[in-house]
Amino acid sequence: MPQPKRVLLTGHQGYIGAVMGPFLETKGYDVVGLDTGYFDECNLMPDTYTFPTIRRDIRNLMPQDVAGFDAIVHLAALSNDPIGNLVESWTEDINHKASVRLAELAIDAGVSRFLFSSSCIMYGMSSTNEVNEDSPLAPQTEYARSKVKTEEALREMANDSFSPTCLRNGTIYGISPHMRFDTVLNSLVGLAYTTKKVIVQSDGKPWRPVIHVSDVARSFEQVLRAPIEDVHNQAFNNGADHLNHQVIELANIAVEAVPGSSIEVRADAGADQRTYKASFAKFAKTFPDFEWKFNARTGAQELADTFARINLSSDDFTGPRFTRLKWLQRLLEGGVLDSDLRWAEPVAVASK
Ligand SMILES: NC(=O)c1ccc[n+]([C@@H]2O[C@H](COP(=O)([O-])OP(=O)(O)OC[C@H]3O[C@@H](n4cnc5c(N)ncnc54)[C@H](O)[C@@H]3O)[C@@H](O)[C@H]2O)c1
Repeated sequence: MPQPKRVLLTGHQGYIGAVMGPFLETKGYDVVGLDTGYFDECNLMPDTYTFPTIRRDIRNLMPQDVAGFDAIVHLAALSNDPIGNLVESWTEDINHKASVRLAELAIDAGVSRFLFSSSCIMYGMSSTNEVNEDSPLAPQTEYARSKVKTEEALREMANDSFSPTCLRNGTIYGISPHMRFDTVLNSLVGLAYTTKKVIVQSDGKPWRPVIHVSDVARSFEQVLRAPIEDVHNQAFNNGADHLNHQVIELANIAVEAVPGSSIEVRADAGADQRTYKASFAKFAKTFPDFEWKFNARTGAQELADTFARINLSSDDFTGPRFTRLKWLQRLLEGGVLDSDLRWAEPVAVASK
């Protein structure tokens, strides 16, 4: 099968998409972005992509949206537990049902490769030391359930001419034009930078695999051009073993990156106790030459240096623009989005 060339990238205006889209362009792919634009105005720095885009809610996809592509990289989703907990049907409809329909349209249109941005969160509170792709899944939130259900559906849909691959990411960090401060390392370094104090609201023991957003873009691209038999109907934990950290280690790394900052641990019974230490052996075995360019330490330093360069303000750090739940709530409260999370006023479908 020839290498994919034309790629439909859903969620290109999100945190990952704003890095992945330009990266795919530099690698010579013909990219078309598709996004409803929830975070249109949420730029920490200007977008750098030059590809054409379709402004569309993935719940309203049309067959022509997917026609003519070799591959779909599917990032568009409500990417957050708290959003899913707010109104569960949003996450069910957008993350699960619309993803399945996108895959159905892809099959009808003869799109052969489908990369699904999944999450290690589906392992939940693991009782085993380390979770691999065969470990039992224990999704604890609507968001995590949406990833499990979509992976299951994709597995059923795979056939000789449709190859889904599910990439189960850890928690992602690093600079993106459409920044998020609601992921763990971004938040810790942002706190260290803006307040000089990192407060850990738990004993800090839970594990988190963390992965740099640029490495996510590179790993997806690696899968995109892999021989199809290596990735056909497979799930991969996307990352590397040395990228597993306990939250307390990440907090220490954050304060080390920001001179003058310090750490305070406040063990709180209500704190987030999700833990998942992931094995990335399958990815390493399948892609032995792939190198992860960042680790938590170099990534934290990059974050701190960038915050200093752009003079990140407390308002930007704590305000709504870079925290997904807060921004959507603002759009809802302002009547810009309706109660189904659709634009109250019709928006232009045309793109740049
Ligand atoms: N960021 C992480 O730490 C992380 C970890 C694991 C998995 N993931 C997954 O990676 C993907 C991208 O994550 P992200 O951090 O870039 O999220 P994000 O919230 O920054 O971006 C998601 C994008 O999808 C778009 N979108 C949402 N609903 C849509 C709809 N109905 N129609 C069209 N577009 C819609 C949004 O406008 C946004 O641009 C998601 O599937 C997420 O679940 C992210």
